[in-house]
Amino acid sequence: MSSAIEASGLVKTYGNVRALDGLDLEVGEEVHGFLGPNGAGKTTTIRILTGLLKPDQGKARIFGRDAAGGSGVRTDVGYMPELPSFPGHLTGRELLDIYGRLYGVEKDDRETQTAELLNLVGLEDSGDRRVSGYSKGMQQRLGVAQSLLGDPDLVIMDEPTAGLDPEGRAEVREVVKRVGKKGSAVFLSSHLLEEVEKVCTHVTIIHRGRGIVSGPVEEVSQRVSEREEIVAEVDELSEKIVSSVERIPQVKRVDVDGNELTVLTEIGSDIRREVSRAVFEAGGIIIGMGRKKKSLEDVFLEFTRGKGGENE
Ligand SMILES: Nc1ncnc2c1ncn2[C@@H]1O[C@H](COP(=O)(O)OP(=O)(O)OP(=O)(O)O)[C@@H](O)[C@H]1O
Ligand SMILES: [Mg+2]
Repeated sequence: MSSAIEASGLVKTYGNVRALDGLDLEVGEEVHGFLGPNGAGKTTTIRILTGLLKPDQGKARIFGRDAAGGSGVRTDVGYMPELPSFPGHLTGRELLDIYGRLYGVEKDDRETQTAELLNLVGLEDSGDRRVSGYSKGMQQRLGVAQSLLGDPDLVIMDEPTAGLDPEGRAEVREVVKRVGKKGSAVFLSSHLLEEVEKVCTHVTIIHRGRGIVSGPVEEVSQRVSEREEIVAEVDELSEKIVSSVERIPQVKRVDVDGNELTVLTEIGSDIRREVSRAVFEAGGIIIGMGRKKKSLEDVFLEFTRGKGGENE
């Protein structure tokens, strides 16, 4: 069986903006996160995969077939666009029925599927209300339901949790997990590492139009969080204090910037107490301290500095 998605050397420029710069992508029958900051090229890629946009160079295949080729609606692929908006005068049920018709789902099937999907996304009690009265979260969930009509083998979602509060994000995440469990391949974009870690089994990180790392989520996120940082502000920092901290066994490196110590440690080791003791024993006083989680931006920097290669 061919990969759900296979793309190689995708290039797309808008005027003088190079949105995609030779992107490769390989997605199997899995829940695959497409992670990157704003402007990285996620929507551009997704529009190419769904046949809405032609790349300047490169090829994209969905289940072995050219993503750009063919006419008519591709019923094996579902698509949820970025921030979907629906005509507000329709009810959720009517809307799914209309989309179902577009996808060529027969009437009886449409009724069953609509009911099932409303149930899946937790809108069973709101199916007969007008969409204009839906919250953002409900609209996003309706968008997810819409992308699942016709039971596609692959569902492509562009930032399904965008614009939602934490509760709304959690709801949509649950739905995505359920879709994965049903056995469809899912490809979803996000700019939140945490989110991808929560729902996806695989991830590709895109930065400035290029894939910088791809693989199972645990592997990638382990490499991403290889170290943690503790930042301590010390009153009257001295050489003695620095070497005292350096002697803590879990410490990998200590950087000094003014009165601030940045202590790199092994994964998962919270050694704030040890740092505090070491500073105190060397005659210093800590006036502020915290653990710093690496941001996605740090991750991108780390990989783009050449520490990680493609497809590792
Ligand atoms: N229609 C367009 N015309 C001109 N430039 C565009 C167009 N669409 C996208 N771009 C540019 O291409 C780059 C990639 O945009 P894209 O929308 O693919 O990124 P994204 O990863 O989806 O970002 P976001 O997280 O903000 O949705 C950006 O620099 C963007 O400004
Ligand atoms: Mg986008």
